[in-house]
Amino acid sequence: MTVLDEKEVLFSTKDLSQLFQVEQEDIIKVLTEKELEQQSINGEVYIKKDEFENLINELWFSLGISYQYYEIPEYLKNCTSPWAVTLVKMYQDKFTYPDSISPEQGDYLRALVCNVAPKNILEIGCFTGVSTIWLAAGLEQIGSQGTVHSVDLFNDIIPLLPHHRGYLTNPLEYAQKSVDAAQLSHKVKFYKKNSKEVGGKIHEFLSEPIDFLFIDGDHTVEGCFNDFMLFYPHVSVGGYIVLHDINPKYCGWYGPRYIIDKFIKKSPHFDLLEIRTNPVNYGMAVIRKLAEDRTLFLRGQLTKVGIWQRIKDKPLGNFLRKRF
Ligand SMILES: C[S@@+](CC[C@H](N)C(=O)[O-])C[C@H]1O[C@@H](n2cnc3c(N)ncnc32)[C@H](O)[C@@H]1O
Repeated sequence: MTVLDEKEVLFSTKDLSQLFQVEQEDIIKVLTEKELEQQSINGEVYIKKDEFENLINELWFSLGISYQYYEIPEYLKNCTSPWAVTLVKMYQDKFTYPDSISPEQGDYLRALVCNVAPKNILEIGCFTGVSTIWLAAGLEQIGSQGTVHSVDLFNDIIPLLPHHRGYLTNPLEYAQKSVDAAQLSHKVKFYKKNSKEVGGKIHEFLSEPIDFLFIDGDHTVEGCFNDFMLFYPHVSVGGYIVLHDINPKYCGWYGPRYIIDKFIKKSPHFDLLEIRTNPVNYGMAVIRKLAEDRTLFLRGQLTKVGIWQRIKDKPLGNFLRKRF
């Protein structure tokens, strides 16, 4: 999608047109009318990264697309704690909706942390740090010595219509500044890493078991499966695992639901509470690890390899299905 030219990152209007499902002429028209700097390379029109936000604002305006925000509850608006003031500001940023958890869901997480009093929280997928601040606020409120370890790729946030409309470069810097403003930096540690890398050598990152695992990273079946298999063995018995976006009907992701149906629902090793969420019912699952399940990893591997499943899905599979 981008091309590097003399160390400047440029976005191709052709790629943007596909990404936004908007005619390329409409993008070029906005660039020209609003006198945004454009560059022609081999007959292709590019725009500089610095101008990208201006382009988005102007383009959305010309297409009649407005920004969407979470409604901020009165109690949060009126709360004077630095973390609450910071969250209110973050909820007014254009990229926050809908990827960050809503105030209602965040408040649920905060209350859960206050009740469970975990020492080591591991968050997979913090985006810009909204959920991180809710979790850390819970720790702060009970005077816990605990830490939120938060892992994310921290790639630039690019709008993906119809839902994602805001643009942000360097989300790690934004998240760190927000945590500082919330006066919670002593409670949070960010890792710009792929969760796979962290899970593969977890002892380099954590010296104690996880007692609260919040999975809100890669929501595909494969991604969620990898996160669950990599991290649940490191959750202490009695510890909690929270999955976000468990209702594919509303959120469009199948990974968290797959984990619940396949490994949690009927297992005597886990307690499961599924909750509905506001303002959209993406849903959350609160899972308590009751005991170690030594067969889970093996069952997971068999599912993952899924040779039989893969054969069944191929034309040859039809032949096999008839014979066996
Ligand atoms: C839905 S957002 C998280 C929202 C955040 N929990 C909140 O409520 O404010 C998903 C995040 O997962 C991150 N992510 C996706 N795959 C990942 C991976 N393999 N490792 C680390 N982070 C990942 C993305 O970069 C994105 O920021």
